[in-house]
Amino acid sequence: MTAVVRRKALITGAAGGMGRACAYLFGATCDLVLSDVSQDRLDAFAKELRDAGHAVTAHAGDMLDETHLAALAAEINADRPCSVIHTAGLSPSLADWQAIMKVNLVATEMLMEALEPVLAPGSVVVPIASMAGHMFQPDATLDGLLSVPLDDGFVQGIGAALEAMSGGDDGVKRGISYSLSKRGVHLLTYRRAIAWGPRGIRVVSISPGVIHTPMGLAENEKTPGALDTLNAAALGRIGTPMDIAVAARFLCSDEAGYITATDLKVDGGSTEVVLQPKG
Ligand SMILES: NC(=O)c1ccc[n+]([C@@H]2O[C@H](COP(=O)([O-])OP(=O)(O)OC[C@H]3O[C@@H](n4cnc5c(N)ncnc54)[C@H](O)[C@@H]3O)[C@@H](O)[C@H]2O)c1
Repeated sequence: MTAVVRRKALITGAAGGMGRACAYLFGATCDLVLSDVSQDRLDAFAKELRDAGHAVTAHAGDMLDETHLAALAAEINADRPCSVIHTAGLSPSLADWQAIMKVNLVATEMLMEALEPVLAPGSVVVPIASMAGHMFQPDATLDGLLSVPLDDGFVQGIGAALEAMSGGDDGVKRGISYSLSKRGVHLLTYRRAIAWGPRGIRVVSISPGVIHTPMGLAENEKTPGALDTLNAAALGRIGTPMDIAVAARFLCSDEAGYITATDLKVDGGSTEVVLQPKG
């Protein structure tokens, strides 16, 4: 009898709120390759999943570490489609502006570079961006800067832009860095989708609104104004990690086979509520 070959699902930030939900959902039909910077939380979660019968390979490491990315790429079978859900990220209350920009944008581009040679036709990549990436009007100069995250001087260039935009205020800088990093993830999604479309690979980002995860709750507690965003959600509730996981599963399915080079807001309507002209 020939064993059924299951698709692999690579999930980064797997020990976090959205990563865990994605692992449980994708684990029902896929072999899981999990990554997180927190060895302890990742090991505990991998055990929990294996105890529940899931097939799991776990790699602890930093998304900014090329060796770690190479280890993840080595888990992907180049002759079989896979799903990649990239949730690893930092928010303004968790880190300074440089770390936010590096982990959210530079590491995402590094992950794409690492995966490029091994993604088979039929593969789908879903980077998790944010509604924050929709908060600024697109600006050609900034977009140009955000489109080259691996260039020498990228962080320095962003630093100069942030200084001007924030008036030097550290808290404001973190917030803008987060928004710009996620705008950068949108742009990266479009670029990669266009480049990889002819190979039969789709790339679609998800922009969550406020989601009930450690990060979402930390932002809500520490960032003035976060509660307004939360209350602004058109559906009147914050999202759950599973709201994001089911959207990612849809995007990775054949039903979404004509969807690529776009961003899907999974935000209960909050982005549009926030952006509506006031008064
Ligand atoms: N929760 C929200 O309200 C919300 C809203 C919009 C967007 N997002 C985005 O969704 C994604 C997932 O967020 P979450 O709410 O699940 O957050 P979370 O903090 O619960 O999980 C993020 C995970 O990423 C891991 N991580 C952080 N830095 C890393 C690094 N350098 N290398 C490897 N792993 C690293 C953390 O250890 C953590 O387990 C993030 O990209 C976040 O920016 C979250």
